[in-house]
Amino acid sequence: MSVLKCEHLSKTYGAGDSLVKALDDVSFSVEKGEFVAVTGTSGSGKSTLLHIIGGVDRPGSGSVYINDTDLHSLTEDALAVFRRRNIGLIYQFYNLIPVLNIDENIILPSLLDGKAKDQNKLDEIVSYLNLNDRRNHLPSELSGGQQQRVSIGRALYTEPMLLLCDEPTGNLDSKAGKEIVNLLKSSNREYGQTVILVTHDESIAKEADRIIRIADGKIISDERGNI
Ligand SMILES: Nc1ncnc2c1ncn2[C@@H]1O[C@H](COP(=O)(O)OP(=O)(O)OP(=O)(O)O)[C@@H](O)[C@H]1O
Ligand SMILES: [Mg+2]
Repeated sequence: MSVLKCEHLSKTYGAGDSLVKALDDVSFSVEKGEFVAVTGTSGSGKSTLLHIIGGVDRPGSGSVYINDTDLHSLTEDALAVFRRRNIGLIYQFYNLIPVLNIDENIILPSLLDGKAKDQNKLDEIVSYLNLNDRRNHLPSELSGGQQQRVSIGRALYTEPMLLLCDEPTGNLDSKAGKEIVNLLKSSNREYGQTVILVTHDESIAKEADRIIRIADGKIISDERGNI
């Protein structure tokens, strides 16, 4: 069964001479457990696509189904709850809360959802991320790669159906970037997470099972590789 189905997604910005077709009739589906890279040059529509899939932006037309839920038919309030429970978002700049330590950052979205802290799960994730000796540190006391690992932990803790990553390695050197991709790959395998990774870095995209290339808001190729 498809975890994600995008049907005829379009999105335009501006009007008249300044009209931009950020997405132009994009359709594809992703099966449970797939690790998909979305790649394309700057301005091709990658982030727009990811934001619409993640429910942080609405399409101009078309539909997104996550499992069987028609995401954009939900009200704003229902969408916010659905997103918090089912979608993990990881960005280039980690968006951690500066006054909270690693543990607190990881469990925050779940606490906001009214759930009790699950100490065993937290311990497992922190060791999995290899951050045991840093747990009480604030984000400002961590390297970029470590901060990105915390943001992955925050996304994994809620056990989302879909992990969406927008240039997660964009702010890191190639070694730290590679470590982050390996971590995403192993969470894809070990936690059965479905991952969509946006990157303009070809060497990172090649790590995925499948590469969707977009240009001018359209899918120009969709290839399965290293399966
Ligand atoms: N809020 C907005 N208002 C107007 N135009 C926008 C807006 N957001 C995106 N665009 C335009 O839509 C197109 C796609 O943008 P998008 O951010 O999706 O590209 P991208 O592939 O993620 O690029 P990058 O690799 O630089 O992050 C671009 O031409 C961009 O200028
Ligand atoms: Mg982008």
